Amino acid sequence: MIKLSQACLGPEEEAAVVNVLRHDGYLGMGKETIAFEKELETFLKDASSGSVSLCCCHTGTAALHLATQALGIGPGDEVLIPSMTYIASFQAVSATGAKAVAVDIDPNSGAIDLSSAKSLMTSKTKAIMPVLYAGSMHMANDVYAFAKDNGLYVIEDAAHGFGQPFSFHDHVVTCISFDSIKNITCGEGGVVFSKNTRIVEKIKDLRLLGVEKDSDQRAKGGRSWDFDVKEQGWRYHMSNINAAIGRAQLKKIHLFLKRRTYIVSRYLNEISHPMIQMLAIDWRAPHIFPMLFLGNRDKFRQDLLKEGIETGAHYKANHLLSFYRTPYDLKGAEFFSEHVVSLPLHVNLTDEDVSTVIATVQKMCLN
Ligand SMILES: Cc1ncc(COP(=O)(O)O)c(C=O)c1O
Repeated sequence: MIKLSQACLGPEEEAAVVNVLRHDGYLGMGKETIAFEKELETFLKDASSGSVSLCCCHTGTAALHLATQALGIGPGDEVLIPSMTYIASFQAVSATGAKAVAVDIDPNSGAIDLSSAKSLMTSKTKAIMPVLYAGSMHMANDVYAFAKDNGLYVIEDAAHGFGQPFSFHDHVVTCISFDSIKNITCGEGGVVFSKNTRIVEKIKDLRLLGVEKDSDQRAKGGRSWDFDVKEQGWRYHMSNINAAIGRAQLKKIHLFLKRRTYIVSRYLNEISHPMIQMLAIDWRAPHIFPMLFLGNRDKFRQDLLKEGIETGAHYKANHLLSFYRTPYDLKGAEFFSEHVVSLPLHVNLTDEDVSTVIATVQKMCLN
């Protein structure tokens, strides 16, 4: 079976975990997490320009939840979210008590449709949560400008986008996932970053049950004993074991991105059929390879599975789920949700696997 996605792990990750187990003696959040944060900061600064503050969390969902809470968003507030995303984006917002408002997408790219966002804005809207669908940043500057013009924060769901050259802004807080199949993995993990140091400092407290400055104490090898807590926090920090895996993976990110972009370029160049529509997005740091199949998508996926090729359908539109059901239609997201198919994309795919996927897709289009 050619798998849809998979982590690429080697002896480096194994050694990193064993090192924490045998030599560090502390598995929770400590020096590995702090070292990973420093390395991520350097990596992000090198890839972009300007300064950034950041904070690791135990999942990307936790990063989104903390970012939303730290911006003061809660009951009575609304956040605009493209319906075409993983359920985590919606759940992170509703976990704060705020309303997740489903917005339409551009069916040519899967990215948020800003005219739909504008039409769904109310006096309660506090933020917009764009999703870097498949890792694409092609809409990022437009969204930052839209938010600035409308007095909104941007909580950027960049779960798919690690490896992109981010730019840093005071009104933008970016959240990344390091789950088991992302561009790099920690096993489970996430990071939240922003130019806005005040917000990131707040997130650092919130991730440790609201205990003030506990992150600073852990950086010094201790923890806070005499502390105050001023609001609801969460047990959302990253452990030394997860951080150790992430540190080993971070060293390989350039190799990983090279391989991922190579596989994508082969799909884009070698698959061609009137039933298939490729997405008009930026493929610099791709996490998945979605495309639209204009016929019976479910049958197409079944046919590929019978030939030993696992595919995905990223995603079912969130406004169609019972919990987030909207009284209005979102035509772009509904069309996309019905026709999207994701082909295998991960670093372990061989050239032969890629050729097999391409040939089988071409053959199945004729079925
Ligand atoms: C678009 C999107 N947002 C958020 C998340 C949540 O990340 P995590 O699984 O690390 O909680 C994911 C994870 O797959 C995702 O794809």
